[in-house]
Amino acid sequence: MSELREVKSWPEQETRGHTIPGSRYTSKEFFEQEWEGMWTKVWLLLGRESELPEPGDWQMEEVGSEEILMVRQKDGGVKAFYNVCQHRGNPLVSEPKGTVLRRFVCKYHSWAFLPDGTLNFAPDKEDFPEGNPCNKVTLEELRTETFAGFIWVNMDPDCVSLKSFLGPIWDDWEARNIETWQRTMANSMWLPCNWKVVLDNFNESYHVPTVHQGATPDTDRKAIRGNIDTYFKETRFDLSDEGHNRMVMKGGFGVGQTDKEGNIVDPLASELRYWEIDPVDFKGRPEETREALQQAKRRLGPERGFTHYDKIPDEQFTDAFHYTLFPNFAVSLWSDGFHFLRARPHRSDPEQCLFDNWWYASPASQQNENARRGANAGTGAELTMLEYGGDVSIGPGIEDDVFVFVTQQRGFRSRGFKGVYLSNQEKRIRRYHELIDDYIEGRGPKR
Ligand code: FES
Ligand SMILES: [Fe+2]
Repeated sequence: MSELREVKSWPEQETRGHTIPGSRYTSKEFFEQEWEGMWTKVWLLLGRESELPEPGDWQMEEVGSEEILMVRQKDGGVKAFYNVCQHRGNPLVSEPKGTVLRRFVCKYHSWAFLPDGTLNFAPDKEDFPEGNPCNKVTLEELRTETFAGFIWVNMDPDCVSLKSFLGPIWDDWEARNIETWQRTMANSMWLPCNWKVVLDNFNESYHVPTVHQGATPDTDRKAIRGNIDTYFKETRFDLSDEGHNRMVMKGGFGVGQTDKEGNIVDPLASELRYWEIDPVDFKGRPEETREALQQAKRRLGPERGFTHYDKIPDEQFTDAFHYTLFPNFAVSLWSDGFHFLRARPHRSDPEQCLFDNWWYASPASQQNENARRGANAGTGAELTMLEYGGDVSIGPGIEDDVFVFVTQQRGFRSRGFKGVYLSNQEKRIRRYHELIDDYIEGRGPKR
């Protein structure tokens, strides 16, 4: 097996085991400490390169009290600025994206900034005692890097590189050509809960048999329909020095995918047929389809357009690789797509967050899907902002999680709650909270 295809373990991590009280999710004071100590010091995944293909294209995203304006430059690079005019502080843009033909013009007094951030025009420029501001004043720029087709920003000018921040994530992801993957679904919603409620949930699978009963087969509550074994004793957990984590659950072995006679049913049956495996050959032995699928994908993938298959490990063809990237991005990465789950803090209220439930898919898998369904699903799903409590679901499965996010937040307000009592399989939550404290206390993640 080549070096690239191996799934290496990450180093063991110790946790300190301090209490995690409800006030971490409700207190304004803690919310402000987190903002100053942590959010302004970490790399944040904020934009997508394909949203800004041409020079002058821009995307504006909010995180906490900041709005960040990402702009494609003439040289092909991307710069990110705080969305604030340096005259008297009015925001420069108010839409989520657009194209600037020549300059960003402030709607208050018409100061005009070039896409590279330089002030290029100010009315009555000779009237400033400190001198003509043009070509002198610039927008305030943030550290920006791109990786996997995403735009990452950091408010700390002295931050480490994105590559060192991501640690082993970088190599795990690099081989997958993720920059070519397209968004196929994008539902977002403001939720009445702290952002950590969301991340805590994606940092454990202990809740699955209870919260996702509809998705777990009656025969086996520790597994999830769609082929994932969520039982902790079968799950591999890794915590990185940098504070990220990875959870690998075995899939492709047919849990809940057979009828009473042991015949393999859809969707596994069609998946097998697509990869030239006859489901009949595996009657009564669904667990053996995992390896058969891995081999078939390895053999047939490249000629069917799945060009990145020669660089990824066998496990990735069938198993769920769920990552949490500190601080606020959880993602289930498959060989051909991922489930993108992110939570951002509100500008002032600790008890609200902006939650994204998005999906991305590789071009080959989209073609395959279109061929199978005889339809063109289209590419590049636009963002849909939904309302919490409205008629439209944020997405199957995830709506169950959202339900407990909001009830749990209510519980965190109780004076009767003395702090969490965590199982070992929830260790990632403990580590996560310790890292937040490390940042607040001015320590980096490596110890
Ligand atoms: S605040 Fe922008 S031009 Fe005055
Ligand atoms: Fe869940």
